[in-house]
Amino acid sequence: MSSLTTFQLGDIQLKNKIVMAPMTRTRATNYIPNKLIAEYYEQRASAGLIITEGTSPSANGLGYPRIPGAYSDEQIQGWKDVADAVHAKGGKIFVQVMHTGRVSAQINMPEGATIMAPSAIQAAGQIFSERGMEDHGMPKEMTNDDILKTQDEYVYASERLINEAGIDGVELHAANGYLLDQFINPKSNQRTDEYGGSVENRNRFVIETAQKVANKVGANKVGIRISPFGVYNDLQSDYDGVEETFIALAKELKNIGLVYMHIVVQEDSFGVTDARTDRQLSLRKMIKNTFEGTVITGGNVSTIATADAVLNEGFDLAYVGRPYISNPDFIERLKNNVELQTPNPETFFGTDAVGFTDYAFS
Ligand SMILES: Cc1cc2nc3c(=O)[nH]c(=O)nc-3n(C[C@H](O)[C@H](O)[C@H](O)COP(=O)(O)O)c2cc1C
Repeated sequence: MSSLTTFQLGDIQLKNKIVMAPMTRTRATNYIPNKLIAEYYEQRASAGLIITEGTSPSANGLGYPRIPGAYSDEQIQGWKDVADAVHAKGGKIFVQVMHTGRVSAQINMPEGATIMAPSAIQAAGQIFSERGMEDHGMPKEMTNDDILKTQDEYVYASERLINEAGIDGVELHAANGYLLDQFINPKSNQRTDEYGGSVENRNRFVIETAQKVANKVGANKVGIRISPFGVYNDLQSDYDGVEETFIALAKELKNIGLVYMHIVVQEDSFGVTDARTDRQLSLRKMIKNTFEGTVITGGNVSTIATADAVLNEGFDLAYVGRPYISNPDFIERLKNNVELQTPNPETFFGTDAVGFTDYAFS
């Protein structure tokens, strides 16, 4: 039952070692977190830590319809309502800061926004929009000025979320093929300047961004999510040197003092072989040994035994995604041995309360 005991994460104490994984739910009409979203997170406040859905620091990072931002006054007010509701129930909450980069379509973005990425390489595949599936847009290659402006946007959003909205911390989304991951991966980053090529150069944008955000809000309020071996969004991460890349990143993030590293485990159902699963586990352990600080990992965790197994492998906190969609009282169900409800994938990316705030408590 060690997953149900407390944990000290930087300055905050978590009630247990179960982390609600970040999940995009597309209920933020006009990119603003609303009352329904506050209710959804409030319902899930017994998690040790909630990490919110991906939230953009910039109009340029709003690649999906109805995902929230964190740069305008209305958005920050919305996040304040979310933070207040979760805190009133004794919960802790980090916002995942997600810039979609090239994983975007112009139709999903506000007027005047630009799809940008490390290189002008269009992502294969399609993305959903209000009018159905669309090809990913062709991104503009970021100039040095775009790089600086975008980093400033991460800092500005993080500062407002923490200092104005009262959110406990931010998670930089460097996983699953979004902007930060697009810099790390040589498939999407073919720059020939100091932001592309070598491991050091491909990691530079992420490290600089993490350092700038940490300088502003304090490193003990900043975590990061990565996905070595990720397969989403046209980024296969099994390139030569993937281990070297993520170990080098962990070393730098340790020096900055980030409060955690959160490592996505790629599932078998996405075509990962057993050999790669072993390789994933050994890289996760190397990252833990290098970073030394708190590491969150998980995937397919739905019982005390599966959560404890993550901790027994040497990691600190276990993330839980899909079961949190359909079980707002996930912790109480584990404690009382109550059967879990099954989530309905048809309402994962819905527009209203159905499949969002209407799952029953036990
Ligand atoms: C509906 C849905 C939305 C998701 N959105 C995000 C997201 O915004 N950011 C992110 O890092 N991962 C996202 N994920 C991945 C989850 O955080 C998690 O890694 C994945 O669901 C596997 O964990 P599980 O087996 O516990 O569900 C999403 C997953 C689902 C099912």
